[in-house]
Amino acid sequence: MYSQLKLGRRSLFGMAGSLFVPNFAASLAAQMTGPLVEGKSPSMIIHSRRPEDYEMPLEGFLQAITPTELFYVRSHHYTPQVDLERHSLRVGGEVASPYSITLRDLKKLPRIELVGVMECAGNGRGFYTPRLPGLQWTHGGVGNARWAGVRLADVLKTANVRASTKHILFDGADVAIGSMPKFQRSIPLKKAMDPDTMLAFEMNGKPLTPTHGFPLRLIVPGWGGDSWVKWLVGIQALDREFDGFFMKTAYRYPTKPVVPGTAIDPAQMKPVESVRAKSVIAMPRDNAVIGQGTTRIAGAAWSGEVPLAKVEVSTDGGRSWSIARLTSSNGRWAWQTWDYSWNATPGSYRIQARATDANGYSQPTEQEWNPSGYLWNVIQTVRVEVTPMLSTTYRNSCTSCHGEDIIRGQKLTRSQWEREVDKMMRWGAQVPTDQKTSLIEYLSTRFKP
Ligand code: HEC
Repeated sequence: MYSQLKLGRRSLFGMAGSLFVPNFAASLAAQMTGPLVEGKSPSMIIHSRRPEDYEMPLEGFLQAITPTELFYVRSHHYTPQVDLERHSLRVGGEVASPYSITLRDLKKLPRIELVGVMECAGNGRGFYTPRLPGLQWTHGGVGNARWAGVRLADVLKTANVRASTKHILFDGADVAIGSMPKFQRSIPLKKAMDPDTMLAFEMNGKPLTPTHGFPLRLIVPGWGGDSWVKWLVGIQALDREFDGFFMKTAYRYPTKPVVPGTAIDPAQMKPVESVRAKSVIAMPRDNAVIGQGTTRIAGAAWSGEVPLAKVEVSTDGGRSWSIARLTSSNGRWAWQTWDYSWNATPGSYRIQARATDANGYSQPTEQEWNPSGYLWNVIQTVRVEVTPMLSTTYRNSCTSCHGEDIIRGQKLTRSQWEREVDKMMRWGAQVPTDQKTSLIEYLSTRFKP
């Protein structure tokens, strides 16, 4: 049945691309996609609705744990609707005792939990030059959630993996689009047996949502999201690395630096595994105009297999660095939120943050270009203008009843700001009389048409 569909679709692809809408393709899509915006925050950056690819907005980097509705989504194929009644996980391949197990029985194994950061291998691809095809992720192809499930090692032990086993292959319930290859990936046995490598059924204390892999997804702490296979239905022990498209061709990274824009011999490429030390500045925003005084610089940082050691902040474009305070403690696989209190004086600044891992590896200042645009971790620069205005009055008078966001959205003229301040003062805003004029000046400089 399915192979017929596949053939049909293949011949359709042969026709003019714009005709790719009709009947069965549409009904197949309707079967496979499910509700498009299930559990997704409206503030997410949408790269694609079908299949679903959503990026976390910058404010997500201020949270120690990423709420599920802000957590990035990367799907090569449509989200399958898995029927739990009929779902089971097959464990086979190079094993003495292949078996199938339902989610209910799987949950009888010892439960484990960890907070882990998952970053898409292609996160930051949109920053590479020359440009590359693929989703143009900026910063938010990453998230940090609390995962709960069982050890992959426990599931493999029951199957009695043969000594010949080198890799473990994972297969999801998703169905390949058109004649594209299935999304299947393998990881080396050593990583598979790591006590923190998990088959997760919960994310942030709730069952996984369909876009995040319901009912079961692989958690490979420290490694790129390409290994965190969703919608698991099959696990196979292999006597070699899997040789399907998503291992052999996609998700590979040059073993040595390469000249930007050149083609690379596949023999010089290895699979993406660990992600690298990286930090993102969530506040202030690029091109912000801020009042002088104490300013909070904050964001999140992580590294892969090697734990994060420190985050430093520079406000002079990388000439001098100061240690930022790490503000979360969710274990070695989690990202760390960080904070730095800056005494901003008037002028133009280039703010940077730099993560360093326990091996002493720090984020680079130059891109390490590679043909698929993976593992971007160049130090981010945020340009800000500090104005000599009375930020303190503004803060005290204007951000007590509401946040700055309601003000930031305004683009008003000076006389409109005069009326606005008068209105707020009638409503209870306390503005010292001798500072009213400079406050209006401040507002009409920062938030103008
Ligand atoms: C006593 C509480 C309070 C203080 C203090 C206050 N505001 Fe407001 N402001 C409000 C409320 C309430 C709203 C929302 C009104 C609504 O949504 O209907 C608001 C809304 C706004 C808006 C949105 C546009 C509008 O008119 O609804 C702007 C802009 C604004 N405030 C600016 C300021 C500025 C500038 C200051 C400092 C001078 C300030 N506010 C201080 C209560 C306050």
